[in-house]
Amino acid sequence: MHKTGTAWWQHGIVYQIYPRSFQDSDGDGIGDLPGIMDRLDHLVELGVDAVWLSPIYPSPMADFGYDVADFTGIDPIFGTQEQFDALVAEVHRRGLKLILDFVPNHTSDRHPWFEEARRSRDSARRDWYIWRDPAPDGGPPNNWLSNFGGSAWEFDAGTGQYYYHAFLKEQPDLNWRNPAVREAMYDALRSWMARGVDGFRVDVIWHLIKDDQFRNNPISPGWTPGMDPFHRLVPLYTADRPEVQDVVREMRSVIDEYDDRVLIGEIYLPLERLMAYYGVDLAGAHMPFNFQLIDAPWHARTLEGLIGDYEGALPPGGWPNWVLGNHDKPRIASRVGPAQARVAAMLLLTLRGTPTLYYGDELGMENSPIRPDQVRDPFEKNVPGKGLGRDPQRTPMQWSAAPNAGFTTGRPWLPIPGNFREVNVEAQSGDAGSMLSLYRALVALRRSEAALSIGSYEPVSADGDLLVFQRVSAGDRFAVALNLGPTPARVDLPDRFAGGRVRLSTHLDRSEALRGTTVELRGDEGVIVVPAAP
Ligand code: NOJ
Ligand code: MG
Repeated sequence: MHKTGTAWWQHGIVYQIYPRSFQDSDGDGIGDLPGIMDRLDHLVELGVDAVWLSPIYPSPMADFGYDVADFTGIDPIFGTQEQFDALVAEVHRRGLKLILDFVPNHTSDRHPWFEEARRSRDSARRDWYIWRDPAPDGGPPNNWLSNFGGSAWEFDAGTGQYYYHAFLKEQPDLNWRNPAVREAMYDALRSWMARGVDGFRVDVIWHLIKDDQFRNNPISPGWTPGMDPFHRLVPLYTADRPEVQDVVREMRSVIDEYDDRVLIGEIYLPLERLMAYYGVDLAGAHMPFNFQLIDAPWHARTLEGLIGDYEGALPPGGWPNWVLGNHDKPRIASRVGPAQARVAAMLLLTLRGTPTLYYGDELGMENSPIRPDQVRDPFEKNVPGKGLGRDPQRTPMQWSAAPNAGFTTGRPWLPIPGNFREVNVEAQSGDAGSMLSLYRALVALRRSEAALSIGSYEPVSADGDLLVFQRVSAGDRFAVALNLGPTPARVDLPDRFAGGRVRLSTHLDRSEALRGTTVELRGDEGVIVVPAAP
């Protein structure tokens, strides 16, 4: 607990590293644990509190680590157990926390459990996965679809049954109705916590339980053939089943066996369903990820509405959180444009609730064009040409103007974006007006001001492209005024800000006193204002 009585994951900031793309240390073109170790200075200078690593477990890499073949090991591509322990120790020495990705919904088809399960129908581990007989015509048992294209059922000729896979056929789903599966997975969590891991981001936690009657999913009315084929059906019987709440509660109780750990759930659901994952009496996930800023159109009134709705929907005591991007979604700078990306940074770092930053967003990295021969993501390979591929947002971190942006001495696994000579950590560190300087200033301000990290959120009415709110705690008060459009605009702040001062602008070039309660914003500008000294 902090001096203010909040836990580290409440007042802190989380930074997501996609390990393949952060820093390569051995010249194989793939980022690794010693590479992360070498770059911890960047995280300390940025001022974040916790690092979440996308999966580093042994994996055939069909889905780049989200196909796990051993839940307690480290893939040799990323390093050794010793290097992992050294990283945990060093992260802690620097006052940071380490969060691992936990992927409980499925394993790799090369996991020994699945290899044993598919050996025969009588295998002791057969029921660790989800098997069904073919339909009378020999086809799949029902209409369930894979998130990565096609049927979710794969026929296993050796045993004459189909197995269910919500993602790739190389990612068979575990049967979470089987208590032995649960215990094995909880033991994996315990083993990482015993080694010092501070918490988990749980992959597709809302998928863990599927309908026990295997009913067909209903047709989605709005779907058209240009869209993601997965959305042809409503996943009514394959996700967010009522019984999943028991699993989340159990998982939380395992987390609570160790002090001060965090459970974060990856959940893409509408607001009211999302809130269920806090659990009855907050006994579920500490933070069900809130992805609304990723999906919403970038309009002031829309965002104002969704922030208010989210604040209003939180269960009593439920801690909010906000996310602008991750390894599955187009980068924020590409979604809203480079100018608005600065406004988005200010929004993320001034809202009430734990922010999660995606590596490279602090430089304004954009989606990178990927030629067909450079595609690595299985989603793009299975469902090509619909813009669903995730390689563009997974390109290597841009450290410097050195060859390959300082990421590797070898051949990078994804291409280095063409703008790396200007857009990189080294260049932006020396530029007082850069995106990195803005991120550092925003993070530093949030860290030093309790009102910004844990204070209350109070909307201020505004119109047009303006989004305005206050953050308040124990006498301290900040106004945040964001212009989400390109046209200059005037903001009238509440009376308390009369004669106040601009504390920070997204343009990093002003700190003047206000005339009255008015602040003039340029296009695509956001400011944080403090009241006049009493
Ligand atoms: C969600 C992960 O974020 C994504 O990258 C992955 O492909 C799927 N879950 C399957 O594990
Ligand atoms: Mg490497």
